[in-house]
Amino acid sequence: MSGPIVWTEAVVQATREVTPSVREFTLATASLCLPYAAGSHLQVELLINGRPQTRSYSLIGQPDDGLYRIAVKQLPLGRGGSLAMWRLAPGDLLRISAPRNFFPLSLAAPSYLLMAGGIGITPLVLMAQTLAKRGAPVRLVQGARTLSELAYGDVLRAVLGERLTQVVDERGERVDFAGEIAALPAGGQLYVCGPAPMLDAARQAWASAGRSVHDLRFETFGSSGHLAPQPFGLKVPRQGIDINVAANESLLDALELAGVSALSNCRRGECGLCALDVLALDGVIDHRDVFLSAHEHQQNQRICVCVSRVVGSITLDSAYRQEA
Ligand code: FES
Repeated sequence: MSGPIVWTEAVVQATREVTPSVREFTLATASLCLPYAAGSHLQVELLINGRPQTRSYSLIGQPDDGLYRIAVKQLPLGRGGSLAMWRLAPGDLLRISAPRNFFPLSLAAPSYLLMAGGIGITPLVLMAQTLAKRGAPVRLVQGARTLSELAYGDVLRAVLGERLTQVVDERGERVDFAGEIAALPAGGQLYVCGPAPMLDAARQAWASAGRSVHDLRFETFGSSGHLAPQPFGLKVPRQGIDINVAANESLLDALELAGVSALSNCRRGECGLCALDVLALDGVIDHRDVFLSAHEHQQNQRICVCVSRVVGSITLDSAYRQEA
């Protein structure tokens, strides 16, 4: 679902630690939660750096109690959303969107491979449950840095049994992308959600195996990049902007704060609506979106400002009207 966001008030009903760094939030609205399909997320309005901003979090599983559940990984070096969420306690109020889905699960494929890295497991929980319930051939590869960070591992084991493979960095294990893809029958679909390097590896292995691009679906999270976030310079000559973007601030947030009426929708690097032309670059762009192609990332002629960052400084063009 896309289109304008309709906000509704929700109350934090409960929180629980899923792993040492992942907290699950149970959210109640005045009525029962709206129905949603696998891959859906909620947008949440949070007060970050003193002003309301939105963040997206995948919905976990299918509730039988009419309540929404999302899980948030604490990221001290992130853009502030996770820390704002972690400050919430039961009884606190916040505004949420209706469920939206930019990562829909096709139910028409002959078989499925699901791959998740870290907090990327969240949208795949309901995908695994949905496919297992339908009796569809499905396997899931779940990667995490440590054993204790395998979020929802018990839920997934109960649903998938031996069809779940867990790969843990601290055990010296690595995801065998080529091997996993080779084991997927022809025509099967791959769904990936994880940090940027994992998406890169999956896309590369998928292409090397000669698989159709239409059978690879992926989602990323905005805070995940190849380079550590750091402050950088931003110029937009058309609007006379010459500012610094803070390490915990997105390029889009900085533009909006500077009075630019910016176009955006997903704010997750997926829809491409926020892409701007690059006029000059002194440094490196850490492309964190999944909208632009690998070739476009290499060209550095456009940047998705909702998630991508820069090390150094950048000059952008913008057709945005400056607010009076
Ligand atoms: S708002 Fe969708 S890619 Fe940036």
